[in-house]
Amino acid sequence: MSLRDQIEREIRGCGAIPFSRYMEICLYDPAHGYYSSNAEQFGKAGDFYTSSDVHAVFGRLLARQFEEIWRALNRPPQIEIVELGPGRGLFARDVLDWSKKKFPDFFAALTYTLQETSPALRAKLQDSLCEHLATGKAVLPAVGRRALSSGQVGGDTEIYRGLTTEALLLVFANEFFDALPVEILSGSGKLHIGMQNNRLTEIWLPALAEELEFLDRYGVHPEEGERIEVPIVAQGWMHQIARSITRGLLVMIDYGYTRNQQLAGRHRGTLMAYRHHSASPDPYQAPGEQDLTAHVNFTALASACESAAMRCEKLLTQSQFLMGIGEKNQFADAFEDCRVPQERAKVALQLKHLVTPEGMGEKFQVLLASRAIDSNIVATLSGLSFGSESWTAK
Ligand SMILES: C[S@@+](CC[C@H](N)C(=O)[O-])C[C@H]1O[C@@H](n2cnc3c(N)ncnc32)[C@H](O)[C@@H]1O
Repeated sequence: MSLRDQIEREIRGCGAIPFSRYMEICLYDPAHGYYSSNAEQFGKAGDFYTSSDVHAVFGRLLARQFEEIWRALNRPPQIEIVELGPGRGLFARDVLDWSKKKFPDFFAALTYTLQETSPALRAKLQDSLCEHLATGKAVLPAVGRRALSSGQVGGDTEIYRGLTTEALLLVFANEFFDALPVEILSGSGKLHIGMQNNRLTEIWLPALAEELEFLDRYGVHPEEGERIEVPIVAQGWMHQIARSITRGLLVMIDYGYTRNQQLAGRHRGTLMAYRHHSASPDPYQAPGEQDLTAHVNFTALASACESAAMRCEKLLTQSQFLMGIGEKNQFADAFEDCRVPQERAKVALQLKHLVTPEGMGEKFQVLLASRAIDSNIVATLSGLSFGSESWTAK
């Protein structure tokens, strides 16, 4: 049965479904969902690039930042990185390989846990990280998606740790939150997908009080003709992450907006579909064959951290964050494997793409939050040394 048939059967059985449920089936149905199937989603042959697809320097710079955190905290005997949504594992491999080579003491203390639900991507992780998995340095816990069988969108937001809760924890997430299902509200209510004349059709039903309150606090209400996303699932995840960090940090990188930007008229309706590197606003064209994504609401995510007593640092662009880490040694991490000038020139272009505003540098932002770590120590981290504005996620 195709994914479209499956969606239609669910609607015939239970009535119109919220958009978030439609998005969840499209992306994560265990058999035919976009991330579950064997299709190539990442890189040149796929539908989109993430930073680790551009060059290993992204993971190497983050490894440098993670090691600096560990050193600043007096080299605890154990540290765990939990990566949410590691995809095919390029970032994890770059962090682990670079740490092994450059920071052996940090590497000795490190356990790297990969939290990935997609069966196809988990198989790829087994492959790309086989050496680190075999030694126990990397851990791939069995995480499923309870939501799809229970019908409740969002599902299991538990953080699966390889070490005990006393060990220092770094939670890392790159382009994880933008891939979580969202609700969509307009002046007519909340978007549901129903059936009419045997075709999928949009139906507007009253929004829940919780969704309207979310927009009151963190976003804007839709004006005539507008559609605004309500990322309730992402909010649940952030609450859970913040609760799970007894002592440690969260580093999340994604494209997104603040409430002030929405009030100024930007990022109002950001849901997009991606297929073969072209973007479309139509989420219904090819269920299960195209990526669906929405920008993240940094104001809401920061508030979730703070409500669980985490301390958020100023919101930085990826450019500022990577410049802060890499400038001290002039991005030597990027050029180490280059043997000839042509290779250096190629890597310089890839680095430029990650860092400059015309590339990914200002498209992505970095939210860093900490708990039970001296704020003076956090303030000295290289990644935070650029960017002078005070807290901007509000
Ligand atoms: C846009 S991809 C990003 C992949 C990777 N972080 C990168 O930068 O290349 C989103 C990833 O999150 C994973 N994901 C989505 N929901 C998840 C969940 N509830 N638990 C674990 N992983 C999840 C998807 O399967 C996918 O691998």
